Amino acid sequence: MSVFTVSKKPSKSRNMFFDDPVDIARYDDVRYQQFEKLTDKQLGFFWRPEEVDILRDSKDFKNMSEAEQHIFTSNLKRQILLDSVQGRAPNLALLPIVSLPELETWIETWAFSETIHSRSYTHIIRNIYADPSIVFDKITSNKEITDCAESISKYYDNLIDRNRISPGFGSYEHKKALWLCINAVNALEGIRFYVSFACSWAFAELKKMEGNAKIIKLIARDENVHLASTTHILRLLPKEDKDFIKIKEECADEVLEIMKEVVDQEKSWADYLFRDGSMIGLNASVLKTYIEWIAAKRCTAVGIKHNFAGGSNPLPWTQKWIGGGEVQVAPQETEISSYIIGGVKKDVGSDTFKGFSL
Ligand SMILES: [Fe+2]
Ligand SMILES: [Fe+2]
Repeated sequence: MSVFTVSKKPSKSRNMFFDDPVDIARYDDVRYQQFEKLTDKQLGFFWRPEEVDILRDSKDFKNMSEAEQHIFTSNLKRQILLDSVQGRAPNLALLPIVSLPELETWIETWAFSETIHSRSYTHIIRNIYADPSIVFDKITSNKEITDCAESISKYYDNLIDRNRISPGFGSYEHKKALWLCINAVNALEGIRFYVSFACSWAFAELKKMEGNAKIIKLIARDENVHLASTTHILRLLPKEDKDFIKIKEECADEVLEIMKEVVDQEKSWADYLFRDGSMIGLNASVLKTYIEWIAAKRCTAVGIKHNFAGGSNPLPWTQKWIGGGEVQVAPQETEISSYIIGGVKKDVGSDTFKGFSL
């Protein structure tokens, strides 16, 4: 494998994966504008955890019950694990097989934003624990967390293994490994993270740990973009390659199993979180209903037939954190985080600066 091979085909006539490798990184005549838009959006969302004031959280944390502290710290530990995987796996698994420059750049931008999430957890933990290693050192000895790690790494690892077998590059089995991997990532980005998010925002609804909730809001804003990308890929694959129509049918049961496994694991996680007691507004049973609801939504988005209970959002207040609007408090009470840091609004027209002189 070379890092630069001149492609015989123009990038516009290549498929997303398993076609000629990307040669020139050019974005003037791309096949899928959607990935360009996602990259622009993600870059516009650039933020750094240090920009969010979390000093008050330290006091809040000390005043919380042990049960609440367990919920808070366990949740962070789990997010640390999920983002550790997401900060590296898309690059390792998807870059060796990608064929379009706009998708290659999107994958790199996506993984980079996950590294910011990881850095933000260190920032949060440093603020509430005098010795952050108390939290970090124990992550990999927590069975609930390592079980989850195994489940999310499985499909990435399978694809990475197949990527290394050169005679079978782009074979039907290789494509199948990609299909299952993207579905597993879609479940990770679209379901697992949202369970942790809901818990973080539940604290803020009680006016506790608001700095953390603001960081999680920025993370959720990024995760929405990531989720849009995996959903796009899953919708585009069968459109550009007939093999994926067959693979989609053939793997329907396994994909549903992936979703079910995620839902089951998240439900047991809810029990683990609330084992020492609940918090006002959130308990294991409501969180489980939320897990089903969000799984139903994700399945419908990519055409997976499912039996998860849909209906209306059992935690309607999460919407304002995900949506970004509805900030009703005065800025001096709690900092507003709904503005876009580094956001780009492309509304400059040819006559915008008419009559303007220096
Ligand atoms: Fe993330
Ligand atoms: Fe993500």
